[in-house]
Amino acid sequence: MQYPVTMTPEQEARIAQLKVWFEKALRNTGREGIEQVLNKLDEHGFYTAPASSSFHLNEPGGLVLHSMHVFQMAKLLKQTLKDGHNMITKEPLLQDIDVLLPDDSIVISTLLHDVCKTAIYVQTMKRQKLPNGVWTDALGYNLDYSWAPFGHGEKSVIMLQNWGLRMTEDEMLAIRWHMAAWDLPFQSADEKSNLNAAKEHSPLITLVQMADGMAAGIMETDWSATAASLKTMDEEERFLL
Ligand SMILES: [Fe+2]
Ligand SMILES: [Fe+2]
Repeated sequence: MQYPVTMTPEQEARIAQLKVWFEKALRNTGREGIEQVLNKLDEHGFYTAPASSSFHLNEPGGLVLHSMHVFQMAKLLKQTLKDGHNMITKEPLLQDIDVLLPDDSIVISTLLHDVCKTAIYVQTMKRQKLPNGVWTDALGYNLDYSWAPFGHGEKSVIMLQNWGLRMTEDEMLAIRWHMAAWDLPFQSADEKSNLNAAKEHSPLITLVQMADGMAAGIMETDWSATAASLKTMDEEERFLL
């Protein structure tokens, strides 16, 4: 399943660069099934997909870039927890942080949290109003959920499992609940209880939720210096912390 994509040569070159880094980070985990996942992501257009239809990174390559931003934020948050102390008691913030938040689990659960967005965005020409008030045609996106309509976080877990990826329970819970309460049907007490229980299961769940929110809400905004500097910085240097 893959929709045709129109890209500029710059976008194409940038996606190729992002893909090399993304694949390298996942292969380095040595995780069972990762090759099959990488093949399937390529086959279904993950790398050319946007991160959203009209909000953050709504352009070809936006999804892989967003995934890398979430990874970067999670690594930064882990390092902050590692370096930090309780201001009152002076105790370390977390004991055994590398056991609670293994690096491989951070790679798997951040880079793959949004694979559910593969093959839902369909490029189309849309009427857009320019700042000077003139209407023009520009490439935009429509949404099509007809392929594998399993939901959002749960869909990512189902897709990865179907493709043969071996994941820990913490990783599956972190991917399943990465949207935190934003994706909850509020009439369902069951879902709310599951979300709360998942958060008590491992700090990885909260870490991925925070990293996802900070990537979209800080790194991918117009006022972020990161967004502007990304255009000139070497990707490998930017993301390999
Ligand atoms: Fe998501
Ligand atoms: Fe996300």
